[in-house]
Amino acid sequence: MISPLRYPGAKRQLVPVIEGLITANIPPPRLLLEPFCGGATTTLRLLGSGAVEHGVLSDVDPLVASFWKTAAFDSKWLIDAMNGLEITVAEWDRWREAEPRKRRDRALKCLFLNRTTFSGILHGRAGPIGGRSQTSKYKIDCRFGLDGLTRRINGVADLAATGRLLDVWRCDWRTALARIPKDFGSLSASEVLVYLDPPYVDKANWLYEWSFKSAHHTKLASVLRSGTPFRWVLSYDDTPTVRELYCGKDDHITLHVPHRYTAAGSEKRTVKDELLVTNLPVIPESERYRVLDV
Ligand SMILES: C[S@@+](CC[C@H](N)C(=O)[O-])C[C@H]1O[C@@H](n2cnc3c(N)ncnc32)[C@H](O)[C@@H]1O
Repeated sequence: MISPLRYPGAKRQLVPVIEGLITANIPPPRLLLEPFCGGATTTLRLLGSGAVEHGVLSDVDPLVASFWKTAAFDSKWLIDAMNGLEITVAEWDRWREAEPRKRRDRALKCLFLNRTTFSGILHGRAGPIGGRSQTSKYKIDCRFGLDGLTRRINGVADLAATGRLLDVWRCDWRTALARIPKDFGSLSASEVLVYLDPPYVDKANWLYEWSFKSAHHTKLASVLRSGTPFRWVLSYDDTPTVRELYCGKDDHITLHVPHRYTAAGSEKRTVKDELLVTNLPVIPESERYRVLDV
């Protein structure tokens, strides 16, 4: 399962690590909620692999939530509309200015801008791929392959049609967490896993309209640490702020996950460290991470 959306900070390389954590905890969770879903990489892959039975996506950004709702439950309309799009800088300007009020139009705006804007950034200062003059080797439509996008959207629709992707919510993370006992009260705490991938501590203001300030990161930590009626896994870039909020507390475990990658346009391998924090009771041994708290 590959996401139709490109997302800054998509935590693709963490998915196998999260899958290992999930399968080590018996019984595995039945429901996965992703309240900062963005490109939804983790939920799509874990539903696709069968590691969890059911998933719910949620995001505060109306463009993102509308996209997932439409891809999941109204995919034929989305694919038809996508095929009618003109991928030009003039259209990019039009979509950037547009303030659609209807769910379908918001979904289309999300898809258009995500696939034609530098780094997939929906809001703010990022410009079209290839620049306004389109003199670069990569033009505005280079990430808009219709066959691939159609396959990916159909994949999301199939997850919904087979009852694996249950719903998409448009709300703040606190509202999403509060909905769990209301909507899924029949599930026990160990049957629900929440995967949280909040905006970056450093770059969030530039990347997302609904960015997180320091107080939001602190609030999230206090909610998770105050005891929750669900299990959770949280991912962050490794920064001093995050270590201060989560390391050395005995109600959860912090894992340090080094990630080696080759940056675009570079020959050099770079190491980017991530932290995974979780209250899952069983942490299997793995070469992919080391436990920081003990
Ligand atoms: C780091 S991205 C998530 C990336 C995602 N894990 C992926 O793989 O593509 C953060 C997401 O959180 C959303 N967001 C920001 N503030 C939020 C809030 N207060 N409540 C819920 N979602 C929020 C943003 O709209 C963005 O889509």
